[in-house]
Amino acid sequence: MPLFRTAEDWPRRPEALPAVSLLGRVLLGDPAEFDVVEAINVHMADADGRLQRIDRGLARRQWQELRAAYERIGVPVEVLPARPGLVDLCFTANPSLVLPLPDGGREAWLARMAHPSRQPEVALHEEFLAAAGIPLRRMPETVGRFEGCGDGLVHPGRHLLHAGVGPRTAEAAWQALAEAHPELDILVYELQDERFYHLDTALAPLSETCALYVREAFDRDGLELLQAAFPEAIAVPLHEALRFACNAHCPDGRHVLIERGCARAASEMRRRGFEPIELETSEFRKSGGSVFCLKLAF
Ligand code: ARG
Repeated sequence: MPLFRTAEDWPRRPEALPAVSLLGRVLLGDPAEFDVVEAINVHMADADGRLQRIDRGLARRQWQELRAAYERIGVPVEVLPARPGLVDLCFTANPSLVLPLPDGGREAWLARMAHPSRQPEVALHEEFLAAAGIPLRRMPETVGRFEGCGDGLVHPGRHLLHAGVGPRTAEAAWQALAEAHPELDILVYELQDERFYHLDTALAPLSETCALYVREAFDRDGLELLQAAFPEAIAVPLHEALRFACNAHCPDGRHVLIERGCARAASEMRRRGFEPIELETSEFRKSGGSVFCLKLAF
């Protein structure tokens, strides 16, 4: 039974699990079509229900800074070309999840997007991943929603997955993954707060022992589980998490790409030897995403 909901029921700890390699490359999505045209999460409209307005020129400049930051630290970047009408295609974290395996291989699970407007993105990921030579897996028909690595976070360096259940991913998805990989430990978190609608808005794995997280997104079981998996986890204050501090990405165990202005998260990380790279992602935050959402690690 490799799905675990409480720290008490989880008999192992990360150091006892098979090692896997880090996913060292990223796929970004060209933001040429990026826009907010319907509010599919609470960040996309203001208090009066008016849709956020995107400055597309600024969005492109922010995206180019993100791309340049990855390249500067030696992370190879691939780009998914824009497609007419696919306004969220730049959020490449959602249409698939790449899982590193203990034998050194990897496999990609294709998403079942919760909103029809995003479903066409999945075929584009399928094409990209097939060309990259990564074996593809599909969820059974009975899985209603599964949004890739928005809700499935690989534990750095170990055969262990942190799995969110909420508005975008159904528990059935994690059961399907567990059946395919009985040797994989999957820790299941119920998302509690609609502002943290994907697990990647609430928890950012940084290393084998450290992660950023926001308390408000989790129930007690979830908090105990993540603290057991990441004994040095850093609780980020709510106001920083609402700036998407927990949507940071650490591709190499050292550099952490994170939204600018999350002072507490940045100083706690520096104290532990990480090097935060602060980036402005204001235009993408208006759509409910920041750094982690803007990339697929593969
Ligand atoms: N507007 C997009 C959506 O609601 C944002 C996706 C952000 N992605 C993420 N992994 N949190 O689907």
